[in-house]
Amino acid sequence: TLPEIRIYEVGPRDGLQNESKFVPTNIKIELIHKLAAAGIRNIESASFVSPKWVKQMSDGMEVMNNIIRTPGVNYPVLIPNLKGYETAIKCNIEEIAIFPAGSEGFSQKNLNCSVEEGLKRFKEVAVQALKDGLRVRGYISCVVGCPYDGPVNPKSIAKITEELLEIGCYEVSLGDTIGVGTAGSVQRLLREVLMVAKPENLALHFHDTYGQGLSNLLAGLEFGIKTVDSSISGLGGCPYARGATGNLATEDLVYFLYGLGVNTNIDLVKLIEAGHIFDPYKIAKMNAVIKTEKLNI
Ligand code: HMG
Ligand code: MG
Repeated sequence: TLPEIRIYEVGPRDGLQNESKFVPTNIKIELIHKLAAAGIRNIESASFVSPKWVKQMSDGMEVMNNIIRTPGVNYPVLIPNLKGYETAIKCNIEEIAIFPAGSEGFSQKNLNCSVEEGLKRFKEVAVQALKDGLRVRGYISCVVGCPYDGPVNPKSIAKITEELLEIGCYEVSLGDTIGVGTAGSVQRLLREVLMVAKPENLALHFHDTYGQGLSNLLAGLEFGIKTVDSSISGLGGCPYARGATGNLATEDLVYFLYGLGVNTNIDLVKLIEAGHIFDPYKIAKMNAVIKTEKLNI
């Protein structure tokens, strides 16, 4: 049997949070519908962060209350604190994602608090969410390098991973927020993190700043990790991570996995067409390499 890879799409959240213009709510909803129709089964659909910090995501409630959910599709949302959680829980959600930073400098810029204080706040959120019967996913950002502090020690990422698993996260997504990782630094990171976590409890979240996304991914897959985060058309980035660019593009990921003989059950043509939703609005960076007319699979 072919190996299975779980694709976790972050475009509607990570992708659109970084656009300079506010993407209209109906376009966000249409994008989520098209991703589900293409066969994507995990779609991070919104965040409930402070609208003063990230205005682009201020319509999370409208998005979550108006999407038509496809059975079998998971629609997680990103939550920074209890205040965000209290709003999100009114929107029929089943999974949340919490996101401590892997470095002090980025924690201050992105969350306005230290790494330790961030973990404390996220623990409160996770405890409540688990009590409410939700699934909790954890991200760690800046797992390889930080735009403010420089290189990040893999040991500190292993420690945060351990804490997130103890809190009750079913999975920890390792985020190379600014895309500085290489296959070598990813290997060094994973050797350390796999001392405290099983590969089935980890996910890889690469930003593609230096075009290393796919080779980093291949390095990670060799350790047995089976969940990969990606973003439609390679949109994405974090407004508080200087120099951050788009995520690994879902179209490129699916094409890459086809080449490895991995069955994703995703219709690549429909997926590419989903990315074209942005064409008339000129709001997206179209980083994906694969175009329907050039498909050769
Ligand atoms: P703060 O300003 O320190 O918050 O922000 P505060 O608790 O002091 O509250 C200040 C005001 O904000 C209060 O209102 C709160 O009610 C309000 P006031 O009394 O002044 O009227 N407030 C909120 N309003 C709505 N929703 C909320 C909320 N929280 C507070 N949830 C905070 C702290 C954490 C909220 C802020 O820093 C924040 O929202 N940060 C999130 C930034 C963000 O979204 N970054 C992008 C996502 S992370 C990412 O992309 C990386 C990832 O993809 C992985 C990777 O790539 O590595 C996940
Ligand atoms: Mg990200």
